[in-house]
Amino acid sequence: MTTLPTSSPLLLPTPLGGTLVNRVGRPGHDFDPAELKGLPRLELSDRSSADLEMLATGAYSPLTGFLGEADYLSVIERLRLADGTPWSIPITLPVAREEAGLYTGRVVLTRGGEVVGTLDVQERYSARKSLEAREVYRTEDPAHPGVAALYAQGDVNLAGPVTLFEVPRGNFPRHHRTPLEVREVIEARGWRTSVAFQTRNPIHRAHEYLHKVTLELVDGLLLHPLVGQTKGDDVPAATRVKAYEVLLDSYYPQARTLLSVYPAAMRYAGPREAILHALSRRNYGVTHFIVGRDHAGVGSYYGTYEAQEIFGNFSGEELGIKILKFEHTFYCGACGQLVSPRTCPHGREHHLVLSGTRVREKLRAGEALPAEFTRPEVAEVLREAYAAQG
Ligand code: ADX
Repeated sequence: MTTLPTSSPLLLPTPLGGTLVNRVGRPGHDFDPAELKGLPRLELSDRSSADLEMLATGAYSPLTGFLGEADYLSVIERLRLADGTPWSIPITLPVAREEAGLYTGRVVLTRGGEVVGTLDVQERYSARKSLEAREVYRTEDPAHPGVAALYAQGDVNLAGPVTLFEVPRGNFPRHHRTPLEVREVIEARGWRTSVAFQTRNPIHRAHEYLHKVTLELVDGLLLHPLVGQTKGDDVPAATRVKAYEVLLDSYYPQARTLLSVYPAAMRYAGPREAILHALSRRNYGVTHFIVGRDHAGVGSYYGTYEAQEIFGNFSGEELGIKILKFEHTFYCGACGQLVSPRTCPHGREHHLVLSGTRVREKLRAGEALPAEFTRPEVAEVLREAYAAQG
């Protein structure tokens, strides 16, 4: 098989905006801790604390902080920052209207009461929730988890540059790498081309198929499971990461695979989130990004391939990362292998297709998942996790 055209050796893609943002600074070095005394304090939600890390480590380059009003409206209405740079989801810091007046100048950001960073407030403005829901989530239905989160959050957005004091290594210290650290691994391994795989579901055979087809084309695979906040019935990140560890040991080429976690929260914004996922992975230094069926979707809010089509709004140069689009992949009994409508001539009666909901039902009922759907090693990790839940 031929290899995709590569750039010159080890010339990693530039981050969006040209430079990898770094807003990580230590108190006592870049900061005098005494300066923080007496400043207003703001306790971050799960999502905002993940956003703080994404911003400060450059995963959201070129953003250096939470969006101001001009960028906020431009992202919602034009899929671009005010300066024209592609961006698809407003990264905002919402607070309750009654409290908004407290936050001026430098604000101390806390998490579980611990100081984690600062925000230099440059703007406060009203969120346009219904516009944001309609444009970003393409629905105002409060049953949509992203819309529900939007409606539940405060009505005023604070904006300005952030500083994070220390990168939190979270629950997966072994797999937690900043964009710079991922770039260093890619360089050390000499991958001239690499692909990132975003995921929030337990790995199954269709995922593995996408990984392996892609590994025929590019040098390295960044398995990048999202470990930030997800909706209540999604499989917890710890279980998903364990399943990856088990599978990687036995079925993936070690030198060509990197498992690393992606700290952001899930928005379930389908097409819009696919763009954010791709741009952010460019910042992590990969050249390609996989978008399959109903990427970042939930329920039936989005068309199966809308998350692929939305990339047509941008030129390849603007994106700076190549999108590898895959059709729905499943096991075909007649073919005896993983296939897609592009490769399989057989009828539906030969196809094994299980929705995420059906998988969760089976797991809750203690039923085995078919080996053609999930490798037994993964099925066992999932079974144990569900059994422990009782
Ligand atoms: S997502 O919310 O992160 O998109 P998931 O972990 O299920 O959910 O999917 C990860 C990636 O694999 C996405 O790009 C998705 O489109 C793709 N994908 C998942 N299942 C399939 C499938 N059966 N066929 C094709 N692509 C798939």
